[in-house]
Amino acid sequence: MNKKILYLIIPVLILVALLFGTGRFGTLNSPDTVETQQSVETDAQSETETQNAYDYMVFVNKQNKLPDDWEEKVVLKEAVNKYGETKLVEEKALEQFLKLQEKVAEEGIDMQLDSTYRSVQEQQELWDEWTIEYGEDYVKTYVAVPGCSEHHTGLAIDVCLDIDGRRVDDNDEMIAKKEIFEKIWAHLADYGFILRYPEGKEDITGYGFEPWHFRYIDDVDIAKEIMEKGITLEEYLNRQ
Ligand code: DAL
Ligand code: ZN
Repeated sequence: MNKKILYLIIPVLILVALLFGTGRFGTLNSPDTVETQQSVETDAQSETETQNAYDYMVFVNKQNKLPDDWEEKVVLKEAVNKYGETKLVEEKALEQFLKLQEKVAEEGIDMQLDSTYRSVQEQQELWDEWTIEYGEDYVKTYVAVPGCSEHHTGLAIDVCLDIDGRRVDDNDEMIAKKEIFEKIWAHLADYGFILRYPEGKEDITGYGFEPWHFRYIDDVDIAKEIMEKGITLEEYLNRQ
């Protein structure tokens, strides 16, 4: 090779080697950089995880009432359903519900917010109204004693269906539409929800089958385990 060409090539090669060595090129995926990216993500995640000072796995049932400090901590957000009714739902539960709603709409299901957050007072009114309308036995099967309803947490959502422009929110009619609800249940866990009162588990939950009552627990893996095994929160937590 011509010596003049060598004199030109060698400095260029040295320069290229120096540039790669100092990280100007080609080192974006080096372990250091990846580690930095991961730690940024972890910090951001833990910020969201700690932003609400309450336990999304909170256990409320006939034997376990709402924790005393819950109502002062819970962050509720408003949402308006297609019937123009304003509903209150815990903020992360609402965010995920809206995604679930979009998902099931892809399958032609119009699922709407029905009864969501209820104060102890509102639960009392419901209990009284339903006792007059349906009698005490029915009420005990479908309505929690005020203070012991998951609806106080803001994490429980009762949905109704809109079928051919008609609101379907009657308990018996919704139970008869189980095949539609089954399509919704298939997506619940992906958004951190579980079916709280499944069929066949009435002795464990203490309530009748409620295909419409979804409970946000925030943990997709746990939700998947509960839904795949077809178990209740009582069984998952091994509590009564
Ligand atoms: N329907 C459920 C059991 C409640 O009233 O909380
Ligand atoms: Zn409910």
